Amino acid sequence: MSLFNWIDFAVIGDTRGQLVVLEQNKNLPFVVQRIYYMTGLDSSIPRGFHAHKELRQLAFCLAGSCQMLFDDGNQRQSVVMSSSSRGLLIEPMIWHEMHNFSKDCVFLVLASHHYDESDYIRLYDEFKLLVGK
Ligand code: TYD
Repeated sequence: MSLFNWIDFAVIGDTRGQLVVLEQNKNLPFVVQRIYYMTGLDSSIPRGFHAHKELRQLAFCLAGSCQMLFDDGNQRQSVVMSSSSRGLLIEPMIWHEMHNFSKDCVFLVLASHHYDESDYIRLYDEFKLLVGK
């Protein structure tokens, strides 16, 4: 079983460059209530290390690359993110970590809810207990 899904977005490209469109109720999988992005990332400093109880997220590596690791408490899977037109869907109750950021990595996330610390599971042992594995 795959612990993640990709969503491929159409790229409108011409000699001027490439354009990707994300539209509510058209090609996005949930109503977006929050957008955040990360820059100035360091290959030796991984991030994430949590799961969410309810939140759904769609992540993009708009520039550069990184590695995303998923864990459902039973198995671990990792994928490389390196395409600005491929969104990676992060569902609730999936532990995730981001590793190996390239220097130029620009990491964008669309989220289904506002920031809520009580939605986070930040301790792996607690996550394992909650998923019952
Ligand atoms: P954190 O969850 O540690 O980032 P990551 O899991 O990607 O490594 O978030 C870093 C800080 O930013 C933390 O203090 C919470 C805060 N934050 C917000 O205030 N709003 C947000 O939407 C997000 C994602 C984080």
